[in-house]
Amino acid sequence: MTSVTVFGSGKMGSAIGSIFTAGGATVDHITSSTPDATVTGDIVVFAVPYGAIGDIVAKHRDQLAGKIVVDITNPIDFSTFTFVVPADGSGANEIAKLLPASTVVKGFNTTFAQTLADPSRGAVVLIAGDNADAKATVLAAIQAGGFAAVDTGALAAARELEGFAKLQIQLAMGGKIGGFAVIPAA
Ligand SMILES: NC(=O)c1ccc[n+]([C@@H]2O[C@H](COP(=O)([O-])OP(=O)(O)OC[C@H]3O[C@@H](n4cnc5c(N)ncnc54)[C@H](OP(=O)(O)O)[C@@H]3O)[C@@H](O)[C@H]2O)c1
Repeated sequence: MTSVTVFGSGKMGSAIGSIFTAGGATVDHITSSTPDATVTGDIVVFAVPYGAIGDIVAKHRDQLAGKIVVDITNPIDFSTFTFVVPADGSGANEIAKLLPASTVVKGFNTTFAQTLADPSRGAVVLIAGDNADAKATVLAAIQAGGFAAVDTGALAAARELEGFAKLQIQLAMGGKIGGFAVIPAA
């Protein structure tokens, strides 16, 4: 059985935990009130602010070795609405550098929490990563939970996924949209 540890139990952590649970996975959460909990999942989801990841990695690096780490963050400074990662890179790439013994998959960052909490809204989860087996495992767990998911390519595509999300957030904050839709291929 797939086991998932989700860092965070806020809007995204709860929605993603529910998707994996619906797909038959066992799910546990680690939050800032349980910082010393042990990482037990084979898939680990970072459903926390990007700024919290340095602390999490420092505390759990050894436990994260050999695991699939799903980075859902949008590494944006919301006071300036600018990226806090290099313009030619991504948050996912920075995390991969911090965790060379883990397999990093970008995912879920382009879907709003409220759409993930309601499968009937038809959100499509986009993922990216360099390891085909890891992506297949994550895709299968998402699909088992009732959501469509699309592999967008190598981890380098995380840069585009983060840019896609930034534009979406900007438009949503301006009240212009409720989210981007991904239309399945005909
Ligand atoms: N909201 C969205 O629609 C959306 C969409 C796409 C991507 N994202 C990304 O998803 C991430 C989470 O967003 P959110 O909206 O779910 O935020 P949120 O509702 O504020 O939840 C954040 C969670 O992170 C936990 N946390 C913070 N520092 C931690 C630490 N050091 N160790 C363990 N847990 C820690 C918090 O735990 P405590 O409550 O115990 O402090 C809380 O459960 C962000 O990176 C965001 O950019 C959000």
